[in-house]
Amino acid sequence: MNRRQALLSLGSLAGAGALALKNAGNAHAHSPNNFYQGTLPYDFTSLEGFLSAESVQSHYANHHRPHVDGANHFIEEIAKARSAENWALIPELSRDLSRHINGHNLHVVYWQSMAPHGGGDPTGDVAHHIETHFGSPEGFRRQFRAEARALRGNGWVLLVWEPVSARLLVTSVEGNTDAMLHNAAPILALDLFEHAYYPDYGHRRDDYIDKFFDVLNWDFAAVQLKRNHH
Ligand SMILES: [Fe+2]
Repeated sequence: MNRRQALLSLGSLAGAGALALKNAGNAHAHSPNNFYQGTLPYDFTSLEGFLSAESVQSHYANHHRPHVDGANHFIEEIAKARSAENWALIPELSRDLSRHINGHNLHVVYWQSMAPHGGGDPTGDVAHHIETHFGSPEGFRRQFRAEARALRGNGWVLLVWEPVSARLLVTSVEGNTDAMLHNAAPILALDLFEHAYYPDYGHRRDDYIDKFFDVLNWDFAAVQLKRNHH
């Protein structure tokens, strides 16, 4: 599967409301009601220069995968608690489920937000929206960078489409649990958990943030925008 096909198949899931990579080579059985981890649309080595193959592989297997397993686990646990009428357990299970679903969905957007030949400036509709809402691609980059540098601790910085105001916004999320803008659709995501940058950058977190723009996948932003902007 080439990158274009991967993007198109991801776009085809728009109606399902679930962000998941749909790959023909996925060896894990799944049902429409469960979360699963698709394979990345590029090799682990493809982002070298920004991220090492080792760190991408470890991130994918040791930090993204547990969210997929966790989401499926807590769906089952909630069903068990419901069957047993053990309602006191529900609120905490529900929070755990949300945390894992957010963790999974945001990683899916993060992987797609990078491409081996990414970078540069957006074109077409994305360029139009970036210029309308941020003044210029450089205005967007500087705002996104400022948001990322200011985020304390683990979390995410996102470019989102806010449907009520019909605007692109830059926003950040602390951890996986804090509320995101409701109904806002992630267009691009940067993982700022320590596990994302520490293996390659150590304490040079700002370098990781700056170099993200060199691999930024504007093609994916275009697909996401088209899915969410009606
Ligand atoms: Fe991560």
